[in-house]
Amino acid sequence: MLIDNHYLITLRPKVKIKKPKPGNFFMVAVDTGLDPLLKRPFSVHRWIDNNFQLLYRVVGKGTKILSEKKPGNSLDILGPLGKGFPAPKKENQVILVAGGLGIAPIFAMAENIKKKNPLLFYGTKTKKDVILIDEFRSLGIDPIVSTDDGSQGRRGNIVNVLKKYLARHPSPVTCYVLYACGPEIMLEALSDLASKFNIKGYFAMEQNMACGIGTCLGCVIKTRKGHKRVCKEGPVFPIEEIVW
Ligand SMILES: Cc1cc2nc3c(=O)[nH]c(=O)nc-3n(C[C@H](O)[C@H](O)[C@H](O)COP(=O)(O)OP(=O)(O)OC[C@H]3O[C@@H](n4cnc5c(N)ncnc54)[C@H](O)[C@@H]3O)c2cc1C
Ligand code: FES
Repeated sequence: MLIDNHYLITLRPKVKIKKPKPGNFFMVAVDTGLDPLLKRPFSVHRWIDNNFQLLYRVVGKGTKILSEKKPGNSLDILGPLGKGFPAPKKENQVILVAGGLGIAPIFAMAENIKKKNPLLFYGTKTKKDVILIDEFRSLGIDPIVSTDDGSQGRRGNIVNVLKKYLARHPSPVTCYVLYACGPEIMLEALSDLASKFNIKGYFAMEQNMACGIGTCLGCVIKTRKGHKRVCKEGPVFPIEEIVW
């Protein structure tokens, strides 16, 4: 257990798998029985010496069962799946934005591009949900944190914190690019902000998933380029393509 209700699990693939990209996800069968029947999607959080880590919060039956696994247990897993975050351009100043558990894939991105000195804006409900601060600092990133109740960092939502930052720091010669993951309400507000400041970027989207491989059409969202499957054409989409 990482903090109350949040868990980190390290998995060692029994067969060689493709190295996941930040934003890729795995479908995890939390048990061998029929209940729960469907695999659950989790973003890759870290990749260390051919092992990978998932960071998750217990919200229901599947994640509860997962939290009870012991070292040495085997899990049936599919992945890495989906399209991950594309690499930033050389001239970009990267802005990472995470809301709540969106920090799981955003950490993977931060670790991948740490040499580009990304900025990180991280919002949670309250102090007890704030995680990975030391891990980000060890990457050389000092997170700008906000909590809804002001118990850690600034008070209020992280999109407003970013808005104030952008007003004070207009786009430098190296233009900003956003990478974000979090609750839909945060991403929608961030999309408005990005359009106001003319900033491009990418969001990792979440939808309930049944198959995770593009066949059930259960995860379709509307985009400006038609309907797209979050598991196959996503979960990462350019901001301007998403219809809210
Ligand atoms: C591409 C992708 C990547 C994901 N990455 C992560 C991750 O890195 N870490 C992580 O903790 N979770 C992640 N999720 C969400 C995770 O898949 C769900 O939390 C999990 O499937 C819940 O399973 P469960 O059986 O415990 O809950 P269920 O019994 O399926 O649901 C229990 C309750 O939780 C709610 N719930 C289910 N899914 C979500 C969700 N996505 N967000 C909020 N509430 C939900 C349900 O509406 C229900 O009320 C990701 C989802 C997607 C689509
Ligand atoms: S989860 Fe089945 S198509 Fe995406």
